[in-house]
Amino acid sequence: MAKNVEKEKQLAAKAAVKFIKDNQVVGLGTGSSANYAIKEIGEIVKNGLKILAVPTSNKTKFLAESFNIPLIDINSITAIDITIDGADEFTSDLFLIKGGGGALLKEKIVASITKEEIIIVDSTKKVDILGKFKLPIEVIPFASNYVLNKIQLLKGLGKIRFVSDNPFITDEGNYIIDIDFGVINDPVLLSDKLNSIEGIVAHGLFIKLASKVIMGSNGSTMIFV
Ligand code: A5P
Repeated sequence: MAKNVEKEKQLAAKAAVKFIKDNQVVGLGTGSSANYAIKEIGEIVKNGLKILAVPTSNKTKFLAESFNIPLIDINSITAIDITIDGADEFTSDLFLIKGGGGALLKEKIVASITKEEIIIVDSTKKVDILGKFKLPIEVIPFASNYVLNKIQLLKGLGKIRFVSDNPFITDEGNYIIDIDFGVINDPVLLSDKLNSIEGIVAHGLFIKLASKVIMGSNGSTMIFV
């Protein structure tokens, strides 16, 4: 039977939003799955729940504002209680690839100061080993060729992401390069290597940042912790 991917995302979003409590600071992810959660959060805010939210992209900020979700500047807080975000791939040991929507930089910063990072996904996102989805890497435009050459030495093949005829530009004015590393057997090692390349602002490997993954599946949800 064909998977109803949108339904699975919605189910995961509904389940995740139940973890939000009154007076919490909530991180809002980016992407189609996170959008379902933001809509749900808009509903519970309308019904009286008091939260302050930190968006991970301009798109998410506009969406949150459209649902009258109160926002707070990340620089005026030291921690986020709970964040709900999507992912492009995940493994059962909670390694993630993110950044398909190009918002990985703020998503990673928000995840880094979040106490409970809940990832919501449809069942197509589950993999045994990361690497089918090309790894998004945000680079300073000045360094893009340098980074591509460095990444070739790590056996990664990629190119700058384009939209129509122009490079995709992130909220922070950077480029995204999408890299095929083949099967990523050691995401921790690859993450460390990428972290040491000048010009890379953030990469889409999320290591030990997710607290749980809620996956919609067969009209229900499964939780990976
Ligand atoms: C945004 O940059 C990404 O990290 C998204 O969280 C990821 O691409 C998942 O998006 P969907 O929920 O739209 O699949």
